[in-house]
Order: sequence, then structure tokens, then C-alpha cells
Amino acid sequence: MSTEPILTVRNLRCSIAGQQVVEDVTFEVPATGITAVLGRNGVGKTSTLRGILGLIHRRGDVRLGGERIDGLPPHKVVQRGVGYVPEDREVFASLTVAENLALAERQRNPRREFVAELFPDLVARRDQAAGTLSGGQQQMVSVARALLNDNRLLLVDEPTKGLAPKIVGEVADALAEASRTVPILLVEQNLDVVRRLAKDAIVISAGRVVHVGDAAELLSDDDMTRRLLGVHVEAAA
Ligand SMILES: Nc1ncnc2c1ncn2[C@@H]1O[C@H](COP(=O)(O)OP(=O)(O)OP(=O)(O)O)[C@@H](O)[C@H]1O
Ligand SMILES: [Mg+2]
Repeated sequence: MSTEPILTVRNLRCSIAGQQVVEDVTFEVPATGITAVLGRNGVGKTSTLRGILGLIHRRGDVRLGGERIDGLPPHKVVQRGVGYVPEDREVFASLTVAENLALAERQRNPRREFVAELFPDLVARRDQAAGTLSGGQQQMVSVARALLNDNRLLLVDEPTKGLAPKIVGEVADALAEASRTVPILLVEQNLDVVRRLAKDAIVISAGRVVHVGDAAELLSDDDMTRRLLGVHVEAAA
């Protein structure tokens, strides 16, 4: 496809408390579908997402739909249409499901019906305190919050981490469905999920992009997967 990428990241460098955690990251996110960010623990995947959002100090050239966003504070990046589903979900534990969702609404006509259709379980549990939900249900709340608004891009960080295998499938289903309406940049360590959802994969190592290419191709290459991700594909499959 010849459509413009929704996000371009050029020479992104990020630091936390003066320490550089992203060295030099360059990649593009196509305007449709799911693009995966892969890499071993601690290589800078989360920091890359937080740098795009402006949650940590960053330099470089970041464009959303061709417009620079690297000089904007986080709330302005969000207003431009970037939704964030953070690692560890970050729901308000003592608030109900309905309250968690209501607090996320930032436009006149939030997409409540779309979200309700996608997550019937959350509708049934709307009066339950979010802290008493299972990990998978909390993840659904976190994804649902981002889907209530007409975002142009979602940044989703390890949504299946720590979930039971059956729930992993449900979260993946929800992301697949969501990606029909909004492009997603997905940090994901579960390679089965990546194989199922992602078209392209970006691999980060020590704060730099070390590989960009077709996700299925990467994951079918045992040597490359072991070298870049430090895992055996056969063992993971
Ligand atoms: N709050 C912080 N203060 C100092 N260093 C940090 C902080 N958060 C992250 N780092 C460091 O930044 C580097 C990148 O971390 P980051 O969380 O971006 O990696 P990651 O690829 O998301 O890892 P994981 O797979 O564990 O989620 C790591 O070396 C980490 O120790
Ligand atoms: Mg992380």
C-alpha cells in the first residue's frame, strides 16, 4: 500500500533522570493494522512508547500523520489522537468498571456501543470495583478506555503479560477487532500473539532498532529469532 504512515519516528533518544534509555530509534507505523515492537527485557520498548507520548525526556523527530509531535507535552499528544494502554494496565482499583471508563471519555460522542460490543463481560461487571477483576478483565478495561475515543493510533504495552493462556486469546481477539478501526503499535513478548496479530515487526536491542521486517518472516526464522529475541521459536510455538 502506498498510504502515508500514521507515525514516523526518526532518531528518537530518550532519557530518564539523566540516564539515556533509548539510544537511537527510527521506524514507521503503517496507517492500518498492527505493528509489533519486540526485544528482550529492558531494551527500551516501554521507554520508546513513553518517549513518543512525551512522558519522559526525548529528542528526535516524531510525526503523527506528518505533523511533528516531539515538542508537545503528553496531554497535547493525546489530544492529537494517540491512545495509550500502559504496561501493568493501571486501572483505578477502587473505582467501578463504569467509573474507569467514564473517566477516559474525552470527546462529545464516545464510542460506548463499540466498546460494549467488544467487551460484553465489562458491561456485565460495570458496577464491580476494577481492582477485584481478573488480570485479563483489567486489561480489557485498559484497552476499552483507549477505544472510547477516536484515536488515530494506539500504543499498547504488553497487554498479555501475566495472563492465563485462554485469556491471552481473548485479549488478542479484542486487539484484532480494535485494529480494524485504529492502527496499533504493540509491544508484545508472546510470539504466538505477535504471529497472529502483527504484519510488521520492529526489534529493539540496547536502545536501538536492530531489525525491521515482516513479522511472520522473522518468527519463522529460528536463527534470527534466537539471535534477536533470545528465544527458540519452536519452544514458543
Ligand atoms: N524509572 C526508571 N529509572 C531508571 N531507569 C529506568 C526507569 N525505567 C526504565 N529504566 C531503564 O531503562 C531501560 C529500558 O527500560 P524499558 O522499561 O524501556 O525496557 P523494556 O524493553 O520495556 O523492558 P521490559 O521487557 O522489562 O518491559 C532499562 O535499562 C531500565 O532499567
Ligand atoms: Mg516494558
